[in-house]
Amino acid sequence: MGFSTDAIHAGQISDPVTGAVITPLYQTSTYQQEELGKHKGYEYGRTQNRTREALEGNIAALEKGKHGIAFASGLAATHALMSLVQSGDHIIISNNVYGGTYRLYELNMTKFGVEYSWVDTSDAKNIENAVKENTKMVFVETPTNPMLVMTDLHRVAEICKKNNLIGICDNTFMSPYFQNPLSFGIDVVLHSTTKFLNGHSDVIGGMIVTSNETVNERIRYIQNTAGGIPSPFDCWLVLRATKTLAVRMKQHDENARAFADFLDKSGVADKVVYPGLKSHPQHELAKKQMRGFVGMVTADFGSLDRAKKVLNNVKIFLLAESLGGVESLICHPASMTHAAVPKEEREKFGLTDGIVRFSVGIEDVEDLIDDVKKALGI
Ligand SMILES: Cc1ncc(COP(=O)(O)O)c(C=O)c1O
Repeated sequence: MGFSTDAIHAGQISDPVTGAVITPLYQTSTYQQEELGKHKGYEYGRTQNRTREALEGNIAALEKGKHGIAFASGLAATHALMSLVQSGDHIIISNNVYGGTYRLYELNMTKFGVEYSWVDTSDAKNIENAVKENTKMVFVETPTNPMLVMTDLHRVAEICKKNNLIGICDNTFMSPYFQNPLSFGIDVVLHSTTKFLNGHSDVIGGMIVTSNETVNERIRYIQNTAGGIPSPFDCWLVLRATKTLAVRMKQHDENARAFADFLDKSGVADKVVYPGLKSHPQHELAKKQMRGFVGMVTADFGSLDRAKKVLNNVKIFLLAESLGGVESLICHPASMTHAAVPKEEREKFGLTDGIVRFSVGIEDVEDLIDDVKKALGI
């Protein structure tokens, strides 16, 4: 099926009692059993929920994977991935990932004896060079948050196959509309559904998608055992949102292209980073592995004072953490989303105090451009 057809229909179930076309919200913690040892396959809400299953099936189809496993947040899903390794194992990971991923892994999981090599995965040779005898996993985020650095997914999959490693891609920034890591041979896709997948800034959620049966069994076991599940209502909301994912993504992409072009040509920032700009050093890779450039634009205003001018004076862009919603957001990654990453670490990959991240929404783009012009007094 085409993407939009899957987005609207895959995984969905109509109500068996009334035929209601919308998947019912099974807001229940438990299920009545017919007699001892005889039930309908549903015993307890942490273990099985029909609304959650519908969402899992829906996003799995969009990611071209067999299994979806939903979590209460992107980070709960990120944490669940650690059940695939054990003390003494080594993981190679992109050096510029979401700050919360860094906090979880480097500042917490190392206490349990898991070792990480934070490498610049934009050059696949760095991944190859980092492989050790105890390496079990390669974790990449592409494009990265917020520097929009890309990793060649095809090369990552090749390295993982050669060395018998599990390849993971955080696909939050692209959404399955623009990029399907499993199609390149990556084993596991991770999402914060909080972002583009839900797209309405009213749910926190996470999802893991895989076609690997062993990974699926392990992650599903952990979903039930550690219990980081999303509520049925949150699942229902995300399921409602994915129906419009294609039209939203097209508009995010169109608006961000025009917005990045304005920033670039106007010279208001020292540097504009957007995979859709020809000046992006990985523009060709972006065209090869992504079907669009999405709604995230990063600009370097050179200093905190200049960054503050735009951050504090915009009116339509809302100063807030998060991204991927229909409303445009603006954020200062160094002090907000990436505050957990030490200054010397973040500055190594260019995340300085002058960096501003724009999540370009689907409002009229002329208004968004005007908003920034007025904020800067131009
Ligand atoms: C790329 C990326 N991955 C994971 C996460 C974590 O997701 P959540 O906030 O849903 O826990 C975020 C959050 O901003 C993110 O941007």
